[in-house]
Amino acid sequence: MDFSDFIAVVHKQFGLNLGAYKEKQLKRRIDNLRCSVGVDNYKEYFALLCTDPVQRAKFFDKITINVSEFFRNSDIFQALEKIILPELCSSRRKLKIWSAACSNGAEPYSIAIILNDGFPGISYKIDATDIDSNILAAARVGVYDEKAVKGVSKARLQKYFVRDNKGFYRVTPEVKRHVVFSRHDLLGDKFKKGYDLIVCRNVMIYFTRQTQEILYRKMYDSLVNGGVLFIGATENIIQYKDYGFEKVSHWFYRKSCPQQEVRHLEVR
Ligand SMILES: C[S@@+](CC[C@H](N)C(=O)[O-])C[C@H]1O[C@@H](n2cnc3c(N)ncnc32)[C@H](O)[C@@H]1O
Repeated sequence: MDFSDFIAVVHKQFGLNLGAYKEKQLKRRIDNLRCSVGVDNYKEYFALLCTDPVQRAKFFDKITINVSEFFRNSDIFQALEKIILPELCSSRRKLKIWSAACSNGAEPYSIAIILNDGFPGISYKIDATDIDSNILAAARVGVYDEKAVKGVSKARLQKYFVRDNKGFYRVTPEVKRHVVFSRHDLLGDKFKKGYDLIVCRNVMIYFTRQTQEILYRKMYDSLVNGGVLFIGATENIIQYKDYGFEKVSHWFYRKSCPQQEVRHLEVR
């Protein structure tokens, strides 16, 4: 069994479409993990994944990479707060938001905090999704260590978190009630429509160029006219025009809206 056979059997057995991930980095991560358990071929490693739930969990963990934190890349969140959201809210009282590949919930909760703080007349709901059910369970609990909340201002820490006696921070119900978590595989599940804002950060980097193209087009279809796609700090949508987007800045792309003049923002 070679690596491509391994990918095919994993897809068939576990429904995880690894063929859509960038092969070189994926192979390196899987090989590291396989070697760390002393297995020197893919056939044996696949058999191990089928029979050993602990190794299977480790494998899924390695693929999903759940790193996240509140207000990740704070300057870009500033642009969201000061420019993108005011503009979106100038023409609507209700916002429908999707945080795709939301990991431990720090991302959707950050957006809820911003909206709660600065946009009192706006009602909003955030669909927060990820492929990894374990991380979603943690996200629903909403308890974070010091490192995850290092980007949260002192005032917001006091207002939106309760610190327990072990030094962990629990998100308040006021923030939680706006966020609904559910499992969603970007590579296999249907995309809902009608979003004013889609936040999809730090997951596309793992996918092949071809898969990225398909997903950006699907995200375009999921946005309302004038809706915005918010991407990760190290990401860039080069062919945004082909998908129908206008570039608002490096990290924000708007679904073309004929009635609205495009504002090009200087956020960095
Ligand atoms: C590095 S985290 C990004 C978290 C957050 N968006 C951020 O930028 O802080 C990547 C997340 O993508 C999720 N993921 C990986 N493949 C996915 C897929 N096919 N569908 C949905 N989520 C996926 C992982 O489970 C992980 O939680």
